[in-house]
Amino acid sequence: MEYFVKSSSPDKRRTGCVIVGVFDRRAPTFDAALIDQASGGALAAVMRRGDFDGKLGQTLLLHDVPGTLAERVLLVGLGRDNGLDDSAFRKAVAAGARALRTTGAIEAANYLTRVQVRDRDTHWRVQQAVLTTLAEYYRFDECRGDAARAELPTFKLERLGFDVATRAELSAADRGLREALAIGEGQNLAKDLGNLPGNLCTPTYLADAARKLAGPGSNIKVKVLEESDMKKLGMGSLLSVSRGSREPAKLIVLEYLKGKKGHRPVALVGKGLTFDAGGISIKPAAGMDEMKFDMCGGAAVLGTFKAVSQLKLPINLVGVVAASENLPDGDANKPGDVVTSMAGITIEILNTDAEGRLILADALTYTERQYDPAVCIDMATLTGACVVALGSYPSGLFSNTPALARALTTAGEQIGDRVWELPMWPEYDDHIKSECADIANIATKGGRDAGATIGAVFLHRFARKMKWAHLDIAGTAWIGKKSTGRPVPLLVQYLIHGPTKLQ
Ligand code: BES
Ligand code: MN
Ligand code: ZN
Repeated sequence: MEYFVKSSSPDKRRTGCVIVGVFDRRAPTFDAALIDQASGGALAAVMRRGDFDGKLGQTLLLHDVPGTLAERVLLVGLGRDNGLDDSAFRKAVAAGARALRTTGAIEAANYLTRVQVRDRDTHWRVQQAVLTTLAEYYRFDECRGDAARAELPTFKLERLGFDVATRAELSAADRGLREALAIGEGQNLAKDLGNLPGNLCTPTYLADAARKLAGPGSNIKVKVLEESDMKKLGMGSLLSVSRGSREPAKLIVLEYLKGKKGHRPVALVGKGLTFDAGGISIKPAAGMDEMKFDMCGGAAVLGTFKAVSQLKLPINLVGVVAASENLPDGDANKPGDVVTSMAGITIEILNTDAEGRLILADALTYTERQYDPAVCIDMATLTGACVVALGSYPSGLFSNTPALARALTTAGEQIGDRVWELPMWPEYDDHIKSECADIANIATKGGRDAGATIGAVFLHRFARKMKWAHLDIAGTAWIGKKSTGRPVPLLVQYLIHGPTKLQ
């Protein structure tokens, strides 16, 4: 598929399909009105018959509308005309993209990007329209057999243009388009990895996926630490998790250094747990299959590198993905075991299912010592409690640096990959006190209270020296048995605008 931007008039556009918006109660947008006039009132006539009234997300396909040069006109309902908001705009674009795909059009022109959205500009509308369309057109069929694959619907569409009102807006539109294409590619990589089952997407597979990003001609460098390397570094916490698995753990380290020499990098740290059975504290069987998505933090790191490298952002970025499985085994962690982390902090493992924090602890220490980053952001499908607290709209955000939390919040609002900050006050530190070790890996007081915060507080013990933020993506990286590729958009948006302020 090829995407492009243009400034033209819908009634004069010679193409397979033009997409125009209509507000509720049959109120045409500027572009729908142009077509209506050119056709001598054809749209108004169709609407009068009651086939279409402009409800948000409604679509109607018309053929051979007189007075126009396009083969088809696709009407998309925009809902009430009281200033379109972000969510309504995305819904309308998604509905249009979906309906377009069922037609035989090889090329199409989308005029929804000319409709005003409250507090948003041309750049935003094009960026969001492209991102929404890419998400709508994403499919995961790597795991289908050849016969089933041959049966999958094929799509004719090859070229899709997004229109802006004036030529002066073309450069902003083009910037939005390029950002969205890069973010979309990174997000799709994260989705593919998240959707792959645990027997295929192992720690070794994740390491190979990272190496692919660093292929010939790439501006990314990758190195992979093996278990023996981790042992030398004293990563007793991370290695204790992988001991229960036959798949060797990997610590995947990525570098993209296109910023100023000597500028401290931004570090992204991801939980790459390729399957979480819980270990000896085993999870219930129902729904356990979904725990193949427990590597989505790691996948988001890889996806973000892909996007950043494509955009050639002038920044220094490093990534660290802790990749392991968590399975029950004769050699697995046992409740009550005490391990020593790379930081020297001893950890009493009271629940082997709180493994994400165990592997991230050493990844954070490694990141801090190896790179002394200006900013460190970790992302992890860390707690079911975060899903209970926030559901699937925002990721949970925790930070020891208010300016960083603000930058991430703003970036999320802008790109439509939101976060919501939860507290990490010192009072919570008491909740991970251990009788026999420095800290416990679950709460030893307060029961299941504030589970997402307890996870964050644990991680913070290994990130204290850094300006740090933690994203709990348990509710946002995986929705309805599908990977979402979040928080790749958030991170790329942050990296385009945010870090300069913190150098
Ligand atoms: N990967 C899970 C978190 C998770 C659970 C994400 C459900 C999405 C849905 C994590 O490793 C885990 O098992 N966390 C435990 C922590 C608890 C033992 C303190 C949890 O959330 O139950
Ligand atoms: Mn777990
Ligand atoms: Zn887990």
